[in-house]
Amino acid sequence: MSRALHLTVLALCLVALVGLSSGGNAEAGRKMVGVYELKKGDFSIRVTNWGATLMSVVLPDSKGNLGDVVLGYDTVAEYVNGTAYFGGLIGRVANRIANARFTLDGKTYRLFPNAGNNSLHGGHRGFSKVIWTVKEHVGGASPRITLYYHSFDGEQGFPGDLDVYVTYELSTPYVLNVRMNATARGKATPVNLAHHAYWNLGGQGSGTILAETVQLFASRYTPVDAALIPTGRLAPVAGTPYDFRAPAAVGARIGGVPSGYDTNYAVDGADEGWQLRRVATVRDAATGRAMELWADQPGVQFYTSNGLSGVRGKGGKVYGRYGALCLETQGFPDAVNHPNFPSQIVRPGQVYKHHMVFKFSF
Ligand SMILES: *[C@@H]1O[C@H](CO)[C@@H](O)[C@H](O)[C@H]1NC(C)=O
Ligand SMILES: *[C@@H]1O[C@H](CO)[C@@H](O)[C@H](O)[C@H]1NC(C)=O
Ligand SMILES: *[C@@H]1O[C@H](CO)[C@@H](O)[C@H](O)[C@H]1NC(C)=O
Repeated sequence: MSRALHLTVLALCLVALVGLSSGGNAEAGRKMVGVYELKKGDFSIRVTNWGATLMSVVLPDSKGNLGDVVLGYDTVAEYVNGTAYFGGLIGRVANRIANARFTLDGKTYRLFPNAGNNSLHGGHRGFSKVIWTVKEHVGGASPRITLYYHSFDGEQGFPGDLDVYVTYELSTPYVLNVRMNATARGKATPVNLAHHAYWNLGGQGSGTILAETVQLFASRYTPVDAALIPTGRLAPVAGTPYDFRAPAAVGARIGGVPSGYDTNYAVDGADEGWQLRRVATVRDAATGRAMELWADQPGVQFYTSNGLSGVRGKGGKVYGRYGALCLETQGFPDAVNHPNFPSQIVRPGQVYKHHMVFKFSF
């Protein structure tokens, strides 16, 4: 990772894109898109304010070889064009909203249907497709970057202004914190932010994750219909291919799932309060790398990159099906249309918070 990247060297002046994100905000006309590095010894990440996207996570393996363990692109321009949400900050509402509509306080809101009849990951131009403002970028013992986005009333059909922050921070030893918050201004709105990193602990582009071992601290999941909309039920994982309560290879039972995992799990214990708890562990025997994920959300989407096919990514690597796994902590998908799911409604002046902790070892 060259030091030259350290201070926004890949500063692309994406003026042509600005109209896309401005929403009537004149200041947006001068927003710059850059790439920022956070570095702590041989542990480093790169972030761009395009979509608050995590572009790389570099750490050693058990032999001391550095590797980048997330899928993505070399240039911001490719993220602008991309459709896989690599490393993106998803919002205003992650995952699907059935029929791209919901009713809140007696008013029906229509969203942008970008996945059949449903809205997916915030709509046509969600938070992963807009330019964020860099509020802070510091080095030292706890390098961090804070990004800010003002989502306007009516953006992609959602009600009310919303002030959104995300902070990426490195801490000892080999810990990545992702902290998000969102404050509703003026109107109640659903908010469900998710971080969409595609992990491959063997190294990005090194093949499939089918041999990586996953453990999910979740005894139930939310079954879906053919359009991937939750039925509203919470079903036990026991006796199904969805059971990862004990560590298991991703590929061990994947044949029993229609097209690979794309499943929201109910994190055990979250019923008793949304505080930081262990959600998942991932282990790659070949490199000795492991990752433990902690978060304070009720759900986690386990996705095995079922839809990836021939995507040309970093360093010319080509990503295919099962080339990575995603662990997106979140509220339950389509919660806004399921009164029995934990509420994701944030009322004026209230603050939504979401903290993810990735602990790496090797
Ligand atoms: C944009 O994406 C399309 C489809 O994924 C791809 O064919 C094309 O080469 C991409 N263009 C650039 C500039 O990356
Ligand atoms: C979308 O909704 C219409 C009307 O209900 C239905 O006829 C159509 O099959 C739906 N499309 C998909 C892709 O589900
Ligand atoms: C949201 O996060 C930002 C950046 O860390 C922080 O300055 C702000 O106080 C937070 N807002 C709330 C309401 O917690």
